[in-house]
Amino acid sequence: MLKSNWKIRRNKSVMFDAFATEYDFAATLQNQKSDFFIKNLSSSKGTALDIGCGSGILAFELAKYYDRVVAVDFSAKMLDIARQKRSSPKIEYIQMDASHLAVDRQFDLIVSDSTFHHLKHLPSTLQSLKKILNPHGKVVFLDNVSEVETPATIKYVVGAARDFMPDSSKYGFRNASRLLKFRLSPSWLKHLASDRYLSEGRFKKIYGRYFPGCYFVRLGSLMGVIWENL
Ligand SMILES: C[S@@+](CC[C@H](N)C(=O)[O-])C[C@H]1O[C@@H](n2cnc3c(N)ncnc32)[C@H](O)[C@@H]1O
Repeated sequence: MLKSNWKIRRNKSVMFDAFATEYDFAATLQNQKSDFFIKNLSSSKGTALDIGCGSGILAFELAKYYDRVVAVDFSAKMLDIARQKRSSPKIEYIQMDASHLAVDRQFDLIVSDSTFHHLKHLPSTLQSLKKILNPHGKVVFLDNVSEVETPATIKYVVGAARDFMPDSSKYGFRNASRLLKFRLSPSWLKHLASDRYLSEGRFKKIYGRYFPGCYFVRLGSLMGVIWENL
């Protein structure tokens, strides 16, 4: 069985709680990333693990293909939304700090989307994940990369303003306005100002060390990593 490791870095998880509802709104509206994962599923479809599952968008997609999905996140609010909006008998949502994984099960697929840059000890988490991957299992990760470790807040403000008109045509004025309000909200901007991204070169070096022979896919500001445990 999986145990919640709730001695979690509370302050950090509370930061995610603060914008969980609006984050879910934005992620649901823009949901463009699940395709990358669905295109790269493992051959065996027994169990999947999603690290930093947020409001459960990807976990819910994976449950269409896998017998069992374990989805972990340290934000109570994100998990509340996931359980409310995306519950399934196949999915187990667990509050857990990914830096102290307490998982005594093996997986056919381990995924993570836009979460690893938050981890304090990424190498030890990658090592732990490798140990719980089944033979022929797959890891598929997506995370932000940037040549500037923490981009300036003004860059996000300008980006949000620039996207408003295109977002209005794509999602309608009401949705685009709500999206803009979220992207300019103090809690979201404060969060972005605390993010620290790896450069593309460092990213490839770190992931390549733990998953030798993995391949990388660049998707805008995100970098994908795919590795099979052959
Ligand atoms: C940017 S959101 C991405 C959520 C989801 N994967 C998505 O793409 O919609 C990052 C998520 O990682 C979670 N997270 C950050 N650090 C974590 C940690 N140490 N352990 C578990 N979850 C963490 C946050 O609570 C948040 O839900």
